[in-house]
Formats: sequence, structure tokens, C-alpha cells
Amino acid sequence: MTNKLLYFKFLILFFTCLTFSLSAQEADLNAGKTLFINQCASCHAKDMKADLTGPALGGVEERWADYPREDLYSWIRNSQAMISAGHPRAKELWSTWGPTIMNNFPAYTDQEIENVLAYVDAKWKEQPKVVENTTGTAGAADGEDNRLMFIALFLILGLLALVLARIIANLNYMSQVQEGDTDAQRKTLSDILTSKGFVSFVIFLAIVIGGFMTVNNAINLGRQQGYQPDQPIKFSHATHAGLHKIDCKYCHDGARRSKHSVIPAANTCMNCHKAIEKGSTYGTAELTKIFASIGYDPSTDKYIENYDELKTEDIEKIYKKWIADEYVKDNSTLDREGERLIEEQWDAIVSSLTDPDNGDDKIQGPIEWVRIHNLPDHVYFNHAQHVTVGKVECQQCHGKVEAMEVVEQYSPLSMGWCINCHRETDVQFADNEYYKSFEIYHEELAKGKRKGVTVEEIGGLECQKCHY
Ligand code: HEC
Ligand code: HEC
Ligand code: HEC
Ligand code: HEC
Ligand code: HEC
Ligand code: HEC
Repeated sequence: MTNKLLYFKFLILFFTCLTFSLSAQEADLNAGKTLFINQCASCHAKDMKADLTGPALGGVEERWADYPREDLYSWIRNSQAMISAGHPRAKELWSTWGPTIMNNFPAYTDQEIENVLAYVDAKWKEQPKVVENTTGTAGAADGEDNRLMFIALFLILGLLALVLARIIANLNYMSQVQEGDTDAQRKTLSDILTSKGFVSFVIFLAIVIGGFMTVNNAINLGRQQGYQPDQPIKFSHATHAGLHKIDCKYCHDGARRSKHSVIPAANTCMNCHKAIEKGSTYGTAELTKIFASIGYDPSTDKYIENYDELKTEDIEKIYKKWIADEYVKDNSTLDREGERLIEEQWDAIVSSLTDPDNGDDKIQGPIEWVRIHNLPDHVYFNHAQHVTVGKVECQQCHGKVEAMEVVEQYSPLSMGWCINCHRETDVQFADNEYYKSFEIYHEELAKGKRKGVTVEEIGGLECQKCHY
């Protein structure tokens, strides 16, 4: 009886500690670290002390201390603009590091830049560790901290368990003596350590901790924040959604009314690219890929009949003619160099539209975009629910896509990410029929007792809402 009670108390204590340690982790440094590892570490050394493609970032704030903080922000958003504007520090940097150009990060908020700078500073000032982490993966250091924390927790709990068990044994002994039991014996420490209860408690702890770590590692495996693969066509969101202000939903129509946002088919592209047949950046190189996938002949401005049945050689003739027209007005004067250019461009088109390794050697057919975001199969996520019902902006989850030349995964897509937002975000409560049944909330809202209703409060943290 007392044993059971004791275990119950342990359980409560253990889980309080566990949840506490989990929720206390989030800090700006972590966000800064993620950004740095994903976006900056390819050029700036991770120890902040060595020069790489770019200079060591340690102590950078001091080097910019003579200028307003905004100058440093501007540098990170667009360094070339600062150099052109003649900013003294920018010019100084360029004189040593040019012509190597730093990437632009125009979408970063002040807060995000502060996070990175805070991480740079913390890393720079960090005491050298006795054991250096040589693998260099982003999650490794965190894992280490967690493990230490767990060991400490384990020891403290173990000690507590011992002390409590000892007190209970003494109390038992005393009550037995009081009841006149003359055979009663005081339990020794080793009695306690080998008792069934203690052993099963230790096993229980080991399973919980082991399980937690396994799941944690498994989850991290699937994460790919910052993932930015090369796509078969150099399609730029910065050009389409940014410069030309095409609405996201013009192309990702699905987001409004279905589970998936859907990548637009070549037909959608053709709405405009029937008219824009050559690009100002790549000429015929990229746009011809759209035409060749769908069977549109830009030389005649017509779709090609029975395109699906054409042989690759025939297709080649059609589009090589189109490409040649771009470079020479009169085909007869095509020189060796011109021929090589056309050959190169055509080869690039073929390799973008076919995938012989996977048995696809036909140019015709849909463009195989590389998928960037991918939740595991056991998770249910619905775009329309968020975009149409919840009125959440695309950018809240995908970042400033309209500023990205190449899309990258902006959010971690982890369970914690979904849950955090559901805790913090209000649903569109007032104008949704579906929420009529939550009478208490309506009353409280009317009385001014609450300002809004979060997703959590309508059940957005229930496992089965997100898991099949
Ligand atoms: C493609 C390589 C590259 C990437 C990626 C890159 N940088 Fe740079 N960075 C450079 C180079 C090169 C310089 C030196 C100036 C120049 O040549 O333009 C520089 C200079 C800097 C400076 C000025 C340092 C000083 O001493 O004043 C800062 C600050 C900086 N980078 C921050 C960042 C941050 C933050 C990121 C990630 C968000 C980043 N950089 C990503 C290449 C890069
Ligand atoms: C002109 C059509 C067009 C417009 C407008 C457009 N997109 Fe896209 N989007 C695409 C195409 C094509 C792809 C696939 C190629 C790629 O990843 O760049 C894509 C890919 C994406 C992806 C990555 C999908 C994946 O694989 O996981 C996201 C996220 C995205 N778009 C969001 C947006 C947002 C947000 C906007 C508005 C700011 C927008 N798009 C506007 C055509 C468009
Ligand atoms: C609503 C109109 C519109 C739609 C739809 C559209 N585009 Fe564009 N696209 C443009 C405009 C405008 C430009 C800029 C042309 C320029 O700068 O020469 C452009 C430029 C491009 C370029 C760069 C060409 C170059 O060489 O500079 C590519 C590649 C491209 N689009 C691919 C696509 C793809 C793939 C789709 C379909 C997923 C698509 N576009 C859908 C309007 C559109
Ligand atoms: C609440 C967060 C959230 C919002 C808001 C959101 N998305 Fe997504 N988006 C996601 C997640 C999560 C995925 C991955 C879905 C999956 O793997 O099933 C995704 C995937 C995508 C994809 C890849 C194709 C697909 O549907 O799986 C595109 C394209 C996309 N989003 C575009 C958009 C556009 C455009 C908007 C705004 C109209 C938008 N998203 C709003 C979270 C969001
Ligand atoms: C940017 C904030 C945000 C993020 C991130 C987010 N959600 Fe949501 N989610 C919402 C809002 C707001 C609603 C309420 C929509 C409504 O009123 O039905 C919602 C509702 C839901 C619902 C319906 C809940 C119910 O009780 O009916 C599901 C399921 C859901 N989200 C799944 C997910 C999953 C899975 C992820 C992560 C992959 C995710 N959400 C990430 C904001 C978010
Ligand atoms: C708001 C949506 C949401 C809710 C509510 C939610 N989950 Fe999840 N869960 C996710 C997402 C998204 C992932 C995928 C995370 C990843 O791939 O990193 C996930 C992953 C998991 C995993 C890890 C499996 C794996 O593939 O690594 C487990 C276990 C899990 N959830 C259990 C639960 C339990 C138990 C509950 C209820 C207490 C719950 N989830 C509630 C969204 C949710």
C-alpha cells in the first residue's frame, strides 16, 4: 500500500521534471543557431574564429560598433548594396574579400538577425570544451546537453528514492514495534536496493528515458529545415510572387480549398508563357523546358499534335530550331560556337525533363519538381483549414517565399512547431458557425472575460486531430 503511494509520487515528480525541462529549452540562441548552421556556415566558420570563404564572424558587433545597428542589418540583407552605397566598413570588407560576394538575406527580420548575432557571440566566447564534438552536426551539441541533464535528473531521483525508501522502512519498523511485533527488523540499505519495488522503478525509469531519447532522435532524422534542392527549372518565386506580384493562390490554388496546396501544372505556366516565350535572364534555356514538357511549339505559337507519340529526335529538331532562332537570325550562318551552345542548351533541357535512372526517358510529361516539404504519413495536415478557415498567412509557415529565388523549407515541421502555434494562435471564433456550440467561450467573450479562443482550447492539441 505505502509502496504504491510512493511510486505514484515518484511518477508525478518525474513527469513534472520532464515537462519542465522540455518547455524551458526554447531560446533565441537556438533559433540563431539553426539559421547560422543552415544559411551562414557554408561560408563562415562554425567556431567563429577561422576565416573560410568569408571572414570569421567572432567579434563582428565590435567591428560595426561605430555605426548604427541598422547598418549591420542592411549588410546581412544586401551586402552589395552597402558596398555600392560606399559604407566605410562595407568598403573595407570588400577591399579584403572581394570579389567574393556574400549571399543576400533580404527576408530576415531584425529579430532573426539579432538571434544569429547572439549565437555568433555566444559561440565565439564559449570556453573550449574538453571533448570537441567532431561530427559537427547541428543537433549533436543539444543532444549532449540533454543527456547530461537526464543523467543529473536520474541521479537526483535515485537519491530521493533511496531517502524516501529509507524513511518508509523506518516508519514501518516503528509501527510494527508499536504494534508489539517482536520479530520486526529494520531494513538495511541493501535490502532496499534489492527490493522488488526499487528494481522495477529503476527499470521503469530506464525505459522512459530510453524511449524518449529514441523518439527524439527519430524525429530529428526526418527534419530538414532549410532544405533547398535544385529544381528542374530555375523557377523564381522572387520574380513571380515578388517582382510581378502574382498571388500565391493563382498557382497554388489547392491551398484555399483542399488538403494540399498542389504545385501548378505546366498549363498554368502557359497562361503567361505563351506570351513570354523568351526570358530576360536565361533566354530560351529555361522557358523551353516548359514548352518541351507540354508540347508547345513557340516558333509557330501552336500546340504540337500527337506530341505524346513523337520520337525524341523529332522533338529535338523542333526545339533546336527555336533555340537557334534566338541566337542567329539566319540558320545558314550558324558557326561551330553557335552549334555548341545549342547542343549544350538542348542537353540541359533533356536532363531536366528525363530521369533515365528511374526509367523515364521521355521528354513529354509533367515537370518533376523536387518536393521540399514533407510530413510523415501518420500526420494529417490540411491547408484549407489553416488558410481559409484559420486565416493563417502562407508566410507564417513558409517564410517570405516572395523573396526567395529558390524555395527553401522555412519551418521545422516538427510536432512542437505545430503545437506551439496551436497554443498561441486564436481561431476565427466569432464568424464561424462551427464554433456555435462552445457556449461558455461565447459568454466569456461577451462579458469581456477573455479576448480570444486559441486553437488549443477548441481541441487542437488532441492527438487524433493530427494523427491518423
Ligand atoms: C556565399 C558565402 C557567404 C554566406 C552564405 C554568408 N556570408 Fe557573410 N560574408 C561572406 C563574405 C565573402 C564576406 C566578406 C565581404 C564580402 O566579400 O562581401 C562576408 C561578410 C560578412 C559580415 C561582415 C563581417 C565583418 O567582419 O564585418 C557579416 C556580419 C556576415 N558576413 C554575416 C553573415 C551571416 C549572418 C550569414 C548567414 C545569414 C552570412 N554572412 C552568410 C560570405 C558569406
Ligand atoms: C507562377 C506560379 C507560382 C506562384 C505565383 C507561387 N508559386 Fe509557389 N511554387 C510554384 C512552383 C512551380 C513550385 C515548385 C518549384 C519550386 O519549388 O520552386 C512552387 C513551390 C512552392 C513551395 C514549396 C513546395 C514544396 O515542394 O514543398 C512553397 C512552400 C510555395 N511554392 C509557396 C508559395 C507562396 C507562399 C507563394 C506566394 C507568396 C507562391 N508559392 C507563389 C509556383 C508558384
Ligand atoms: C501570371 C503570369 C505568369 C505565370 C502564371 C508564370 N509566369 Fe513565369 N514569368 C512571368 C513573368 C512576367 C516573367 C519575367 C519575364 C522576364 O523577365 O523576361 C517570368 C519569368 C519566368 C522565368 C525566367 C525566364 C528567364 O529566362 O528570365 C521562368 C523560368 C519562368 N517564368 C517559369 C515559369 C513556370 C515554370 C511557371 C509555371 C509554374 C510560370 N513561369 C508561370 C509570368 C508568369
Ligand atoms: C499552418 C501552416 C501553413 C500555412 C499557413 C501554409 N502552409 Fe503550405 N505547407 C505546410 C505544411 C506543414 C506542408 C507540408 C504538407 C505535407 O507534407 O503534407 C506544406 C506544404 C506546402 C506545399 C507543397 C505541396 C503540398 O501541398 O504538400 C505548397 C506548394 C505549399 N505548402 C504552399 C502554401 C501556400 C501557397 C500557402 C498560402 C496560401 C500555404 N502553403 C500556407 C504548412 C502551411
Ligand atoms: C501558424 C500557426 C499554425 C501552425 C504552425 C499550425 N497550425 Fe494547425 N491550426 C492553426 C489554426 C489558427 C487553426 C484553427 C483553424 C480553425 O479555426 O479551424 C488550426 C487548426 C488545426 C487543426 C484542426 C483542429 C480542430 O480542433 O479542428 C488541425 C488538425 C491542425 N491545425 C493540424 C496542424 C498540424 C499537423 C500542424 C503542423 C504540421 C499545424 N496544424 C501547424 C494554426 C496553426
Ligand atoms: C497539432 C498537430 C499534432 C498533435 C495535436 C499531435 N501531434 Fe504528434 N506529431 C505531429 C507532427 C507534425 C509530427 C511529425 C514530426 C516530425 O516529423 O518531426 C508528429 C510526430 C509524432 C510522433 C513521432 C513519430 C515519428 O515519426 O517520429 C509521436 C510518437 C507523436 N507525434 C505522438 C503524439 C501524441 C501521443 C499526441 C497527443 C498527446 C500527438 N502526437 C499530438 C503533430 C501533432
